[in-house]
Amino acid sequence: MLQKRTIPFFNYPALFAAQEAELMEVLRDVCSRGAYILQKDCQEFEQAIAKYTGAKFALGVANGTDAIWLGLRAVGIGPGDEVIVPSHTYIASVASIHFVGATPVLADCGPDHMLDPALVQALVTKRTRAIMPVQLNGRTCDMEALQRIADDHGLMIVEDAAQALGSKFDGRMAGTFGRFGTISLYPAKLLGCFGDGGLVLTNDDEVAHNVKLLRDHGRNEEGRVVAWGFNSRLDNIQAAVLNFKFKSFEQALQRRREIASQYQQRLGDLSQLTLPPAPDADPRHYDVYQNYELEADRRDELRAHLEQCGVRTIIQWGGTPVHQFSELNFKAVDLPATDRLFKRCFLLPMHTALTTGDVDYICDAIRNFYGK
Ligand SMILES: Cc1ncc(COP(=O)(O)O)c(C=O)c1O
Repeated sequence: MLQKRTIPFFNYPALFAAQEAELMEVLRDVCSRGAYILQKDCQEFEQAIAKYTGAKFALGVANGTDAIWLGLRAVGIGPGDEVIVPSHTYIASVASIHFVGATPVLADCGPDHMLDPALVQALVTKRTRAIMPVQLNGRTCDMEALQRIADDHGLMIVEDAAQALGSKFDGRMAGTFGRFGTISLYPAKLLGCFGDGGLVLTNDDEVAHNVKLLRDHGRNEEGRVVAWGFNSRLDNIQAAVLNFKFKSFEQALQRRREIASQYQQRLGDLSQLTLPPAPDADPRHYDVYQNYELEADRRDELRAHLEQCGVRTIIQWGGTPVHQFSELNFKAVDLPATDRLFKRCFLLPMHTALTTGDVDYICDAIRNFYGK
């Protein structure tokens, strides 16, 4: 009989409590300087992320959703263009395409839950301008295969790496493959602030120039309006929190990879489950486990059992991949792999406040359910 624990899906209070004194000092410092908008903390953060990812530019914006649609505007994607994007993503990726006036073309996923390059080719039409891989769950897609398709058809790659800061494919960081890549700094993300925040990464001077104008009312460095723009800046107070958290970012990623290894060791023998690739499964992929998304037989019963044991789990996107939102009037598409996945997938807790004992408890509860 398990000694009952309560394990939240994500533990904001515990993560704050662990560093409360230092975080309050960060806030006090920014407020005492009255440094709120596009100040040095923001510039330092942008420089730190550019250095870390190897991108020429990292530009702070208001959230990960704005990062995508500002990026799309900055590269000139608009009416008449089609963008291929997986259906297994947050509505934000697809809405961003919609809001620049382009048409999202929804694609199926492969066995690792990511955009399947083998299925992208068939979706390319005369109107296709870009492929938007979504670097889901802290994993980077097979970018070699996607780049090959993009090169063959003269398409852009634009990456939604909202969930993948620090993840790599062939040693290269998520967010740096395409014309631009985007990161979300939402509180529960790998690197999360105390509200909304996002980044556009790019190696392209023109894209960086356009995003800088778009995020700040079209104003240039002298403050003169030289183009149409919006207000989508990363708050300096958030940047200061992020600078502080970034100091321990590598340890946080390591901890996530350890937790993934522990799940793998404790659950890998259960035939009723399909686990995500283990951290050492493929030398081309460096996964950082924003989420631990697995598949399970009798998923809904298993989740109810875990809930009774005090373990909170969720299904991404409220359980609905984008093509199933019938109110949004997508052209009828047949995405059997995504349909099947969403009958089976869910997320186990994955965050740095989890202890080894918590993970063991979760695994014991799952093993009990399957009578193992
Ligand atoms: C895949 C994906 N794309 C885009 C976003 C949007 O980011 P944000 O919530 O910061 O706007 C998210 C975050 O939730 C995401 O997971």
